[in-house]
Amino acid sequence: MIDRATVERILEAANIVDVIQEFVPLKKRGVNYLGLCPFHNEKTPSFTVSPSKEIFKCFGCGKVGNAVNFIMEHEHLTYPEALKYLARKYHIEVTEKERSPDEIEKQNERESLLVVTAYAARQFSDNLFRSDEGISVGLTYFKERGFLQHTLKKFDVGYSLEKRDAFTKKALSDGFRQDMLVKSGLSIQHEDYLFDRFSGRIMFPIHSLSGQVLGFGGRILKSDPKSAKYINSPESEIYHKSRILYGIFQARKAITQEDKCYLVEGYTDVMSMHEAGIENVVASSGTSLTQEQVRLIKRFTQNITILYDGDPAGVKASLRGIDLVLEEGLNVKIVLLPDGEDPDSYSKKVSNEEFIKYIRNNETDFIRFKTQLLIREAENDPVKKASLIRDIVKSIAVIPETITRTVYIKECSSFLEVAEPILYHEVNKLRQQKSFQDRNKYPGPEDLPVPKPEVQKPVQTKSTSIYSEKEIIRLLLKFGSEELERKIRKEDGQEEVITVADYIVREITSDNLSFENKTCARIFEDFSFHVEHGIFPGDKHFVKHEDPEISSLSADLLADSHELSRIWREKQTYVETENMKLRDIVPDAVLKFKSDKIKAIRKEIMLQLEEAVRQNDTEKILALQKRFNNLSTALGIISKKLGNRILL
Ligand code: CTP
Ligand code: MN
Repeated sequence: MIDRATVERILEAANIVDVIQEFVPLKKRGVNYLGLCPFHNEKTPSFTVSPSKEIFKCFGCGKVGNAVNFIMEHEHLTYPEALKYLARKYHIEVTEKERSPDEIEKQNERESLLVVTAYAARQFSDNLFRSDEGISVGLTYFKERGFLQHTLKKFDVGYSLEKRDAFTKKALSDGFRQDMLVKSGLSIQHEDYLFDRFSGRIMFPIHSLSGQVLGFGGRILKSDPKSAKYINSPESEIYHKSRILYGIFQARKAITQEDKCYLVEGYTDVMSMHEAGIENVVASSGTSLTQEQVRLIKRFTQNITILYDGDPAGVKASLRGIDLVLEEGLNVKIVLLPDGEDPDSYSKKVSNEEFIKYIRNNETDFIRFKTQLLIREAENDPVKKASLIRDIVKSIAVIPETITRTVYIKECSSFLEVAEPILYHEVNKLRQQKSFQDRNKYPGPEDLPVPKPEVQKPVQTKSTSIYSEKEIIRLLLKFGSEELERKIRKEDGQEEVITVADYIVREITSDNLSFENKTCARIFEDFSFHVEHGIFPGDKHFVKHEDPEISSLSADLLADSHELSRIWREKQTYVETENMKLRDIVPDAVLKFKSDKIKAIRKEIMLQLEEAVRQNDTEKILALQKRFNNLSTALGIISKKLGNRILL
């Protein structure tokens, strides 16, 4: 805790132009300063700093704030951390609240360990670039693998001399305490003797977000079945394997700028990607991805792309990582590299342009990826397909955000040809399970109460289709005998007049569609009877009908005050000129009628599907899905014809 007075002093001292200029080159423009926004990619500057108002604002991405906000945002620091940063900058002493002896001891240990690791990194680097052994063994190895000097410096790699206690001896003689050397894992104590953990290895320092060395990975040079290829620092007060990501320090800026983070497996993969021009990359260092690592990435971007080596068995094993990323609400994409290649080897095999192009062209979302990976086994096998669907549904169910889930359900539905309602049903079922909720330790508010499956909403076929039914009847009554179009008859080459009634009756009867509303159905039947016999029912036939329901509906529909169908209600111009526009109005009304019918049938199928899902009747599920999809396709075609006007 920083006390109030100090906070005020810091805020007073902070000069916003001064603070920001350290990160963003600014040019004076009138009373303000202008520069390229560090929070999004831009070519023309829209990032403005106002010294008088003491704020910055980007007119491109909308980011706005004061000096502290800038440091928090830019350096990914918490509020107190940002204040401390500014305090250091302006030489303001920060008095913090009293800490317990235990806290002080831990803090001291962390600080001591950081001093040791920083010292070690310097030693290893000196060895690599300055010692004969380092140059001839270590540097040669890196050069042979094709790494550039620039990259070696950027990642601060080094070399640990072959002699069993070279580092330990040097460190002790430079005054480092034995217990700290052991705690840092750099030295190993064996009885009375201290020796080096990493002797004879090339060294990869693992940095914190702010560039402190937390630990090391050391790679053996020759392949030796007796010793591990890589050795890493053991867990300590500063090194927590599950919380670190190799390369995050070098990648953080690019991750923010590109708004994306690539995830690879190894140290050399990260370095090679940098050489290929991709700097927004981190490695999980061979371990399976942890929640903490995902959260670390999440501080910088919502978008993760995982690069998998082209080895199907390995990929299958690491699919779990995807769910972890999804669970944190991030968007995940996957790139599968060609067989037997990892990012390091592949980036060296092809040109940088080809490498970048490959990644861009092969980025797939997880549903597509998982499906492609598993579909080969599932094709023509309903049981396997069902299990694949369940598998993917499980992944979708862990996504905390409702909208993202919906998008993925849509994608999954079209890709696997499964009706959306089934997927909703399954996803919601999973989300309701207690074990599932326990797994999501931080359920969002939307998870409680669990949303009802969409399919259980009351079916509203009547209210939606009654309008389109009445509209058809209205058009028949009002314009039935009007000419709609002329056609040349194939049989005799004679011109034929098609009336509105001809058209409507033909369209509806040929598709075997019927009216739900009884009165509409009877009027339509009467009409089709007349049309088939070539006579048109006179004006008053329906208005004066003996059946009071028919006469009253007809009168209602024919009255000018009758509310026009929803299709035309907004287009007032059509009211006056309706009979001039019959060629638009009539076919559209028929299409609307058809689409309502299809929707009603689809709803019916949904209910049957639900039943089939409950009974686990795979065959029935697949058959119903197929029908559902066919109807959806038809609906899509109609909606296109209607110009998407009314299907919502
Ligand atoms: N790893 C590890 N311990 C091992 C093997 C691997 O910690 N015994 C970690 C390292 O972080 C390594 C990553 O897993 O970078 C990936 O392992 P692997 O693919 O075997 O190594 P590469 O990164 O390809 O290393 P190189 O290219 O040098 O062979
Ligand atoms: Mn490799």
